[in-house]
Amino acid sequence: MSRRKKIFKKIFSTIRILELELDSGRCRSIGVSNFLECDLECLAETASLAPHVNQCEFHPLQNPTELRRYCAEEGIQFQGYCPLGKGLLLGEPEVLEASRRLRVTPAQVLIRWSAQSGAVTIPKSTRPGRVAENAAVLGERFALDEAAMAAMDGMHLTRPSKKLVKRDRVTSITLVIEN
Ligand SMILES: NC(=O)c1ccc[n+]([C@@H]2O[C@H](COP(=O)([O-])OP(=O)(O)OC[C@H]3O[C@@H](n4cnc5c(N)ncnc54)[C@H](OP(=O)(O)O)[C@@H]3O)[C@@H](O)[C@H]2O)c1
Repeated sequence: MSRRKKIFKKIFSTIRILELELDSGRCRSIGVSNFLECDLECLAETASLAPHVNQCEFHPLQNPTELRRYCAEEGIQFQGYCPLGKGLLLGEPEVLEASRRLRVTPAQVLIRWSAQSGAVTIPKSTRPGRVAENAAVLGERFALDEAAMAAMDGMHLTRPSKKLVKRDRVTSITLVIEN
C-alpha cells in the first residue's frame, strides 16, 4: 500500500470515530485541513457526512478556486489560513492601492478580501494592537468595493503562485467538542 493510501486509511478511520462522537452529541463539528478535492471525494466514499470545515492556505497569491467551489457545493466551510501571506503580501501594489484609496491598512485589505471571498479567515498576530486592527474589518461597517475585489482577485492570474506552507499532502483533523 502506498504511503499516501496508508495515511488516508488512518485519517479516515479517525474521522469514523469522530462521526460517532458527533452522533453522541459530544462533538459539534469536524474539520479537516489541507484536503484537496480528490481527498474530499475519497473521504465522501467512506464517511457518512462531509466535514464541516476544510482549512487551507488562502490569500490572493494562493487562491484554489476549484477547491473553494467544490467546498461550497458540498456545504463544507472553506477556512483560509495565512491571509496576510505571513506578512509578505502587505507591500503588493494592488494591496497598497486599495489601502490608500479606502483608508484602511494593507492587512485590513487582505483580511477583508478573504472574508468577502466567502472564507472564514484566521490572521495571526502576536501584537494586541494588530489583533484589534485585523478584527476591525470583519464587521458590517467596512467593505472592499468591486474595483478592489477585482484587483485582488486578479493577482494570482498575473504572477506565480506563492504557496507558503509546503506540505506533502499530509492532512490534519480537528473537532469541536461541547463544553
Ligand atoms: N492548517 C495548517 O496547515 C496551517 C498552516 C499555517 C498556518 N496555519 C494557521 O493560520 C493562522 C495564520 O497563519 P500565519 O500566522 O502563518 O500567517 P498570517 O496570518 O498570514 O501572517 C502572520 C504574520 O503577519 C504579521 N501581521 C499580523 N497582523 C499584521 C498587521 N496588522 N500588520 C502587519 N503585520 C501583521 C504577523 O506579525 P506579528 O505577530 O509581529 O504581528 C506575522 O508575521 C495561524 O493561526 C496558523 O496556526 C494553519
